[in-house]
Amino acid sequence: MPESFFLVSKEYPELAVDEVVTLVKMYDRFAKIKTISNLVLIQSVTPWEKIARRATFVKTAGQLLRKMSNVFFDENNYSLLFGAKTFMCKAINLSEKEVNIPDIERSLGSMVSTFCNAKVSLDEPDVIIYMIFTDEENFFGFSTKFEPVKRPEKITKFHHELDWKLTRAMINLARINDDEIVCDPFCGTGSTLLEAQSMGINAIGIDFDEKMCKISKDNLKANKFSAEIYNQTYEYMDQIKFDGIVTDLPYGTASKVSEPPKKIMKKFISKIPRKAKFAIMCKKGLEDDIKLNLTKKYEIYRHKSLTRMILVK
Ligand SMILES: C[S@@+](CC[C@H](N)C(=O)[O-])C[C@H]1O[C@@H](n2cnc3c(N)ncnc32)[C@H](O)[C@@H]1O
Repeated sequence: MPESFFLVSKEYPELAVDEVVTLVKMYDRFAKIKTISNLVLIQSVTPWEKIARRATFVKTAGQLLRKMSNVFFDENNYSLLFGAKTFMCKAINLSEKEVNIPDIERSLGSMVSTFCNAKVSLDEPDVIIYMIFTDEENFFGFSTKFEPVKRPEKITKFHHELDWKLTRAMINLARINDDEIVCDPFCGTGSTLLEAQSMGINAIGIDFDEKMCKISKDNLKANKFSAEIYNQTYEYMDQIKFDGIVTDLPYGTASKVSEPPKKIMKKFISKIPRKAKFAIMCKKGLEDDIKLNLTKKYEIYRHKSLTRMILVK
């Protein structure tokens, strides 16, 4: 079974690891997963590029090789390396040990140079060969360039909008598969819809504010995306079919609200179809006293008077 590795950023460490693990399990429920700090190791039939394209917080990813010789003896890797014009060796130390990174990268680089004609390039090389040190084991890795998801353009912004990284991570944490439909019943400027559609996922937005619907529509049109938008209240969810919800509830400050946020939250939760998966962001405290069968929740600190929660089911 092919093995891959994913090194995630430490911006939101727990959420970043969970995002990769969720995607791995969504695509292959038989995958074997192991995490060592911010490194996720998987044994799965899913190509690593498929996970790396969707996951927001992956910094580095590739095939995991148990031995350096696999770079040369695996036919595929060998032919990729042989056909490469440029390469780079990268040592990553996640262990407590002292590792002389420049020395290792140099020695590994000169060894690779003797096997192929590729030249060292630190700027977007065709092939990267990794050496990863952890306290448990050391690994080699191998990766080639891959096409990342094209960032959608947002022509009209609004100060309450959700940042794209958390939006994308929420779509992934909610396990919205490629052929499914995600609904954002408080869609605002359309962040969820743009991120979802850029990943090839169908999306539907609802917002009770006409101005927000217009902004969402303009943002979608600028990217030639086709998500439907309804100028309705969130209760309109009853009328549409979808597989999961990804949304950011009103805070009662920057955007218009139909009712106090706590009331909206309570009623909204009661309206979610039992089978729907979700990742909901809200101000910390709004979820208190509401029965939610969550699989996970995350605290996202913004500033001293705003901590947000991401609630996942
Ligand atoms: C925090 S904002 C969402 C921001 C959005 N995620 C974005 O990135 O632009 C909440 C949105 O909920 C909308 N809203 C408030 N009450 C609503 C209701 N009862 N039904 C539907 N939308 C509502 C507001 O108009 C606002 O656009």
